[in-house]
Amino acid sequence: MIGFIGGGNMAEALIKGMVQSGMKDIIVSEPREDRRSYLEKTYGAKTTSDNKEVVRQSSIVILAIKPQNMDDVTSEIAQYISGEKLVVSIAAGITLPYLTARLKTSKIVRVMPNTPALVQEGMSVLSMCECIHDKEMGLVRGIFMSVGKVLVLPEKYMDAVTALSGSGPAFVALFAEAMIAAGIKMGLTEENASELAIQTVIGTAKLLETGMPPHKLREMVTSPGGTTAAGLKVFEEKGFKEIISGVIEAAAKRSKELGRGE
Ligand SMILES: NC(=O)c1ccc[n+]([C@@H]2O[C@H](COP(=O)([O-])OP(=O)(O)OC[C@H]3O[C@@H](n4cnc5c(N)ncnc54)[C@H](OP(=O)(O)O)[C@@H]3O)[C@@H](O)[C@H]2O)c1
Repeated sequence: MIGFIGGGNMAEALIKGMVQSGMKDIIVSEPREDRRSYLEKTYGAKTTSDNKEVVRQSSIVILAIKPQNMDDVTSEIAQYISGEKLVVSIAAGITLPYLTARLKTSKIVRVMPNTPALVQEGMSVLSMCECIHDKEMGLVRGIFMSVGKVLVLPEKYMDAVTALSGSGPAFVALFAEAMIAAGIKMGLTEENASELAIQTVIGTAKLLETGMPPHKLREMVTSPGGTTAAGLKVFEEKGFKEIISGVIEAAAKRSKELGRGE
C-alpha cells in the first residue's frame, strides 16, 4: 500500500498518474471531508482523516503536506515509522537531516516535483540516503515517472533544482503573460494573443524536446537584420540573461533560507 499524508493538489497529480499506471493500492489521509470523498470517487483511493492509519497501512508513506505543517505531522507519526517503511517527502525546503532527526529513520527520499505533474509532464528530482536499495528506489522512481521525468541528484543540488524546475513553471508562465500583454498592446484581442503566445511556448518546448539545443533553435529563427534579430537586440540591451540568472539565484537563496526554517 502506498500512503499519502495530505490529499491536496500535488498528491492528486501523483494519485492520478499512479492510477493510470496501474498502481491502485493507495490510501490518503486528509482533514477535509469533501476532499476525501472526491479522491475516493475520482480515483478509487481509500481515505481517512487519521494520519497514523496511513502510516500503519503503508509500506511507502508520502508526505504531501505544506512545509509549515511538517513539525506537527512528523511529531504525530514518528512513533509509527518502523524500520522497513520508506518515507517520501515532497515538501519544498524540508531537508533529509531534518526528516531523519524527526522520524528516527534514514529510509527517506526527498523529492522536488513541479506543477506540470498535473498533466503528467512533471520534472521530479529525487535525493536520498545511500542506505536505500535499488528495489526501493525503483518503487519511488516508478511513482514519480507516472507524472513525468525523474532525475536522481545529491541533496546539495536541491536549492538549485527548486529554483529551476520547482519555481520554473511560474517563470515560464510570466514570460507567456508578458507576451500576451504585449500582443494586446499591439491591438490583438486577448483571446488571439493568448492562443498565439501559449501555442508558441508549447511548440517551442516540443521542438526543444527533440534534442535541438536552445541556441540552435534561436539561430534557426533569427535571420540577419530580420524581425527576430531586432527583438533579441532589446533582450541583450536590457540584460535578459542577467535578469534570469538573478531570478534563479534569488529563488535558490530563498529555498536555502526555508531549509534553515527562516
Ligand atoms: N504544487 C506544486 O507545484 C508543488 C511543487 C513542488 C513541491 N510541492 C510541495 O508539495 C506539498 C503539497 O503542496 P500542494 O500544492 O499539494 O498543497 P495543498 O494543495 O495545500 O495540499 C496540502 C494538503 O494537506 C492537507 N493537510 C493540511 N494539514 C494536514 C495535516 N495535519 N494532516 C494531513 N493533511 C493535512 C491540506 O488540507 P487543507 O486544505 O484542509 O488544509 C491539503 O489538502 C508542499 O509541501 C509543497 O512544497 C508542491
